[in-house]
Amino acid sequence: MADRVQLQQVLMNLMINGIDAMKDLDGTRQLAIKSQRAENDQLTVSVSDTGVGLPAQQADQIFDAFFTTKVDGTGMGLRISRSIAESHGGRLRAVDNPPRGATFHLTLPFKTEAHP
Ligand SMILES: Nc1ncnc2c1ncn2[C@@H]1O[C@H](COP(=O)(O)OP(=O)(O)OP(=O)(O)O)[C@@H](O)[C@H]1O
Ligand SMILES: [Mg+2]
Repeated sequence: MADRVQLQQVLMNLMINGIDAMKDLDGTRQLAIKSQRAENDQLTVSVSDTGVGLPAQQADQIFDAFFTTKVDGTGMGLRISRSIAESHGGRLRAVDNPPRGATFHLTLPFKTEAHP
């Protein structure tokens, strides 16, 4: 049970972030979107890129409101995305994607109480 428009917002932000992270790099640029069943009746959707990677020393700030490394960024994308994940009883986290790039994991329960 989920709000389609909100999940679309989350996935669009993750995909655009991945594309932004790769846009100045040469070589193979790969954006991978995978979904899989996780433990405890959870669903994980992951968005991986082969971009510049999470900002060094600031990886734990990327979910903060107004944190951005882009000239035209609002820095609200991940903050809002994490709020949406949590309001569905899920979570959103970021890890490095060796050898380069980042992966964002969105985990959601299969079913929750019906949304008002
Ligand atoms: N896939 C990624 N690879 C590397 N860094 C990332 C990635 N996704 C997010 N970030 C970092 O996290 C910051 C915050 O991302 P967020 O989506 O919240 O805002 P934004 O993309 O900068 O702005 P907006 O979403 O408003 O366009 C980015 O500016 C960037 O530094
Ligand atoms: Mg963004």
